Amino acid sequence: MRFLTVIMAAALASCSADTDPATQEQTGAAANVDREAASSVNDYVDNFSLLDHEGRAHELYYYDDAPAIAIMIQGNGCPIVRNAWSDYSAVRDQFAGKGVEFYMLNANRQDKRSTIAEEAENFSYDIPILNDETQLVAEALGVTRTAEVLVISPSDWSIIYRGPVNDRLGYGQQRAEASEHYLADALNAAITGEEIETRIRRSKGCIVNLPEAAKRAEHAAISYSETIAPLLAKNCANCHEEGGIAPWAMTDYSMIEGFAPMIREVVRTKRMPPWSADPHVGTFTNARGLSVAEKQTLVHWIEAGAPRGDGPDPLAARVSDATQWPLGEPDLIIDAPAFDVPASGIVDYQFPTVLNPMGEDVWVRAVTVVPGDKTVVHHALVGSSEKVTKPGEGDYQDVFDNYLIGFVPGAESYIYPEDTGVFVKAGGEFRFQMHYTTSGRATTDNTRLGLYFHKTPPKFPLRQQVALNIALGIEPNAADHKEQAYFEFDNPATIYMLFPHSHYRGKSSVFDVVYPDGREETILSVPDYDFNWQHTYSLAEPLEVPKGAKLIHRTIYDNSARNLANPDPDRTVPWGLQSHDEMLYGSFMFRWTAETADNVVHDPLQFGIRQFYGFADKDMDGKLARSEMPGGLARSWDKGDLKAVDKDGDGALSFAEFYGMRKAQMKRRQSSR
Ligand code: HEC
Repeated sequence: MRFLTVIMAAALASCSADTDPATQEQTGAAANVDREAASSVNDYVDNFSLLDHEGRAHELYYYDDAPAIAIMIQGNGCPIVRNAWSDYSAVRDQFAGKGVEFYMLNANRQDKRSTIAEEAENFSYDIPILNDETQLVAEALGVTRTAEVLVISPSDWSIIYRGPVNDRLGYGQQRAEASEHYLADALNAAITGEEIETRIRRSKGCIVNLPEAAKRAEHAAISYSETIAPLLAKNCANCHEEGGIAPWAMTDYSMIEGFAPMIREVVRTKRMPPWSADPHVGTFTNARGLSVAEKQTLVHWIEAGAPRGDGPDPLAARVSDATQWPLGEPDLIIDAPAFDVPASGIVDYQFPTVLNPMGEDVWVRAVTVVPGDKTVVHHALVGSSEKVTKPGEGDYQDVFDNYLIGFVPGAESYIYPEDTGVFVKAGGEFRFQMHYTTSGRATTDNTRLGLYFHKTPPKFPLRQQVALNIALGIEPNAADHKEQAYFEFDNPATIYMLFPHSHYRGKSSVFDVVYPDGREETILSVPDYDFNWQHTYSLAEPLEVPKGAKLIHRTIYDNSARNLANPDPDRTVPWGLQSHDEMLYGSFMFRWTAETADNVVHDPLQFGIRQFYGFADKDMDGKLARSEMPGGLARSWDKGDLKAVDKDGDGALSFAEFYGMRKAQMKRRQSSR
């Protein structure tokens, strides 16, 4: 019976929205609220993070020092939005340089990112259009029609104006010129701190279909026992459990109920579950993240008061499956030397090594790193080497001689792709690169490495490489500094895994492939890079690329003061290992497609030079012009020492010319030994 009333009320509500808007016009200055009373004029707008139609991330609260944020509700095919755009963009231009942020927001069920991008192209919307796929933001903002503009004041995150841009547009009719400029007036008031006379005005536009908004009362019937608890158990509880890496455990309903508003926030801002890939680009075997429907269910349940309802509590009954070795007992365990981590301050990278106790060659098929103290091990990279370093001689690059795994919280194991393995020769040593962050409490770390071997050699050797730029430099206060580096494959290759890495100023990262025919494809996009979560992205479908293909790693850095993680916006930031410096570091695992364990095509010299060309060759034409040569090389060039190397005399060093030079140098060195 109760439901029936609710549905009736909802039906009536949508009827009234359909009635002739002319009868609902603003009646006079005395009323400061339009007759179609929206409830949310003073409402506090909770933070959210949304991707726009080009896949870029935008978080509302990032702009907490802006005088105002304007958001126009957009919908494809709505004539009023199309018509209002010229006025909206004129206001944006009028306020250029005043710090106001302008957006559109699309919450239409029928529109997708690709069709929104088409509409933007066709109607020249050169503005980020936030794609509210779950409709959760539009519901909370009380959106009813497109072409309505919301003005949010970051001083208290209230909506200070909602209504049309001006009085020019009607249904099927329009004035030649607007006589009232509501949006501009509201923005001026926001800047000067004056009161806005009429804060809510009736907007003309197309009705946005938000079916769940009318079903609020039904959301209280979402079952904790049958729906919510299983959803949390599947997506959250293996970190949020006793002894897990998360700061609180999902032990039963009371914990969930207590954290419910916080859960709503982390879902709306995409902080949890931790996973940073754009869901519209590529698929990954280790993907986390809630589906659109799961987010809606979870948030609607919380907005309905997070009711317990009937039934057992699956979280209370949940048994943790956490063991020290999630892949089972390893074939070989290596204990890194114990390390004392102080309570505070910055700890330099540590490069401990451990002799390889194995008397025979092995092929590794999987690796696990178990940090000794989860609160301080920021990351651990591990590799092996046939050589043995003297104590204190290790260097951060050594782990890449024969790379095994990069451990970061939440990704402790790596099972290599089928039929592949990493070869570890008898003797030599295992090398660690340990990055510790202090936690406020002194502790001793005993990190362990577990290795799992193939019983018979696998078909293919797995390899690791990095597209990096050790020559980067990020200007002070730059909010959008771009860096890129590439790796060109000299043989057909199969790519398995991608790992974008930067530090506190990293904002977004992509991996693109450029094929020899010029075709370009994005294979991973991380629109909202989070230094705290160093994810590895394992491609669900390994990607085969031909000889001559380039894998490009691009990262955008935010060195502005708005980036809360930024330790010093006034600094020009160089490459460096510590987090206050920066890295452009796009690591990937792959195999040479034609290489097998007994037919090695790998050429370490070529490999190394390709890495260098990948950042020195800025215009990616495969050769180094004088302007692209780093210091030492440029000096030799200017002295004329490289005349003979530039065989074709084109005034630049092609990869082949440089490679030939280094090969000859190596030969000479070998014969002089
Ligand atoms: C991979 C491990 C992991 C998973 C999976 C995970 N969390 Fe978390 N969660 C953490 C960690 C670690 C923190 C501490 C804050 C941080 O590091 O971001 C955290 C913090 C939180 C917080 C507190 C927010 C804060 O930092 O103040 C909430 C709420 C939360 N998680 C909810 C969830 C929900 C809901 C899910 C599933 C949908 C989930 N988490 C999945 C690891 C995880």
